[in-house]
Amino acid sequence: MERWVGRVALVTGASEGIGAAVVRDLVCRGMKVVGCARNVDKIQKLSDELKNEKGSLTAIRCDLSKEEDIVNMFKTIKSNESLRGVDVCINNAGLAHNAPILSGQTQEWREMLDVNVMAVTICTRESFQSMKERNIDDGHIIFISSMSGYRIANEAFTHFYAVTKHSVRAIVESTRQELRELKSHIRVTGISPGNVDTDFAVKMMKDKTKGNNDYRYMDAKDISSAVIYTLQAPSHVEINDVLMRPTEQIT
Ligand SMILES: NC(=O)c1ccc[n+]([C@@H]2O[C@H](COP(=O)([O-])OP(=O)(O)OC[C@H]3O[C@@H](n4cnc5c(N)ncnc54)[C@H](OP(=O)(O)O)[C@@H]3O)[C@@H](O)[C@H]2O)c1
Repeated sequence: MERWVGRVALVTGASEGIGAAVVRDLVCRGMKVVGCARNVDKIQKLSDELKNEKGSLTAIRCDLSKEEDIVNMFKTIKSNESLRGVDVCINNAGLAHNAPILSGQTQEWREMLDVNVMAVTICTRESFQSMKERNIDDGHIIFISSMSGYRIANEAFTHFYAVTKHSVRAIVESTRQELRELKSHIRVTGISPGNVDTDFAVKMMKDKTKGNNDYRYMDAKDISSAVIYTLQAPSHVEINDVLMRPTEQIT
């Protein structure tokens, strides 16, 4: 990770769960991290907690369902003298609603599309433009997708979420192809976890239980370890796809 010391990483959805774990690992390894989410107070608290570590954490409030917020965030990063732009973008923020195809609420589908697909695409474009204008050719764009981008589980409450994560899989490969077309050396990686022990499922099911599974879930830091693994690959190696499940998960 030595070559990333002092470089800038944007982590979306940094207020909790996987995003907060990734922030922690990157700051401890010396990166200047920008963390965004709606609950910016939680990111600020994390920033205070990490203030004696090798890197730094700048908290920015951003509702990723609003393009204006995203564009303003990139402007804020550009005008900050100690940041100037994004070298690594971790598209992590995402959500699920229990909204099956035959009975779901349109507004819930739309929110999933806005955050899981549109914001991911906009952040990818803006990060690439930020790298391009500063002649950054070794950047990295990482997408936290899901096993739901690879298979349709026989669980209707996950179906529209799977629609969005299949889209993320298409975005990862499309971005890779466009970069190769431009002869850029910026790399892309999709990381697709199975069940992770965060509040993600609690929010999806709108109750306090994390589902009926009795096996041990992965921890947020297990996903962060995969992020670090892909970032530290030698520059001639592009890890495109990481699929990871709890060992006992069947689907
Ligand atoms: N947990 C799992 O089992 C699992 C499995 C596979 C894939 N994933 C994927 O992993 C990623 C992270 O999930 P997680 O488990 O860490 O979930 P989480 O604990 O619920 O965290 C989700 C993060 O996304 C942010 N977010 C949601 N809507 C947002 C919006 N409109 N604007 C800005 N930020 C927003 C949240 O911040 P605010 O609410 O503060 O805005 C929060 O920081 C997601 O893409 C998810 O699909 C999770």
